[in-house]
Amino acid sequence: MIENKRVLITGGNRRIGLEVGVMLGKAGAKVAFTYRGDKSRAEDALSRLPANAVAIPTDLLKSDNAELLVLDAEKALGGPIDILINNAATFEDDTLGSVTPETMTPQIQVGLITPILITRYVTRHTHRDQMGLIINMLDYKIINPFPDYLSYSLAKFAMEGFTRLSARYLAPRWRVCGVAPGYTFKAPDEDPQHFAETRDKVPLGRGPRPEDIGEAIMFLANAPTITGQTLYLDSGAHMMAQERDFSITN
Ligand SMILES: NC(=O)c1ccc[n+]([C@@H]2O[C@H](COP(=O)([O-])OP(=O)(O)OC[C@H]3O[C@@H](n4cnc5c(N)ncnc54)[C@H](OP(=O)(O)O)[C@@H]3O)[C@@H](O)[C@H]2O)c1
Repeated sequence: MIENKRVLITGGNRRIGLEVGVMLGKAGAKVAFTYRGDKSRAEDALSRLPANAVAIPTDLLKSDNAELLVLDAEKALGGPIDILINNAATFEDDTLGSVTPETMTPQIQVGLITPILITRYVTRHTHRDQMGLIINMLDYKIINPFPDYLSYSLAKFAMEGFTRLSARYLAPRWRVCGVAPGYTFKAPDEDPQHFAETRDKVPLGRGPRPEDIGEAIMFLANAPTITGQTLYLDSGAHMMAQERDFSITN
């Protein structure tokens, strides 16, 4: 069911987005992914994907780029997108005590406004032979809230709502699902040892692997009766009482 599907992944040049793209590419999908500006990293990512994969540079801070991106991806992949994975996000810490328009605006733009616009343009084709799929990459934090990463978390809360709203709006031509990973990769400024010590302190005793996320997306791609729902891939972390974000050490 993945073979020959045209897949667009935002932020597919590294970490979760890249590993998901590699899995879908190996399963026969035609993958386009976005990156912000580091061409050599994008070329490294492309080297792990099948030869028909494409990397598209774009800045998701600019709303106008949403439509251009979709047109570029459709041209590069040879037709309308079948599966969109809204994966890109900006993860900067702020709290109610430190939030400013400068911390909030970019995170809401990249994590909420631009993905909504990309979804709008991807789904503008009203005649489809087969149902398309939108995957919104969320975060287990939305069910286990704690005070760190306020702006980032607000974007994820809103994207979960958008998942259900758009699932209603887009049915029956498109399904829309959320995937909410637990602590999969370390935060940018986090000490690797701290990450290694904390990521497995979850009910199932081991944090999620990126391939768990790829497998969940493959499952959702083959699940024609699931829409408007979110899968939590967090080894049970959403059921834990947590004072602070895992990555916070002080
Ligand atoms: N990592 C985790 O443990 C974890 C846990 C829960 C949820 N998640 C969610 O899973 C998704 C992927 O996480 P990740 O850790 O793999 O992400 P990441 O390493 O932080 O990568 C984010 C991606 O977004 C892109 N991006 C950010 N700002 C952009 C902008 N202005 N324009 C264009 N692209 C931009 C980055 O591009 P560049 O590389 O070019 O900057 C990068 O490809 C995110 O939605 C995240 O919230 C991750």
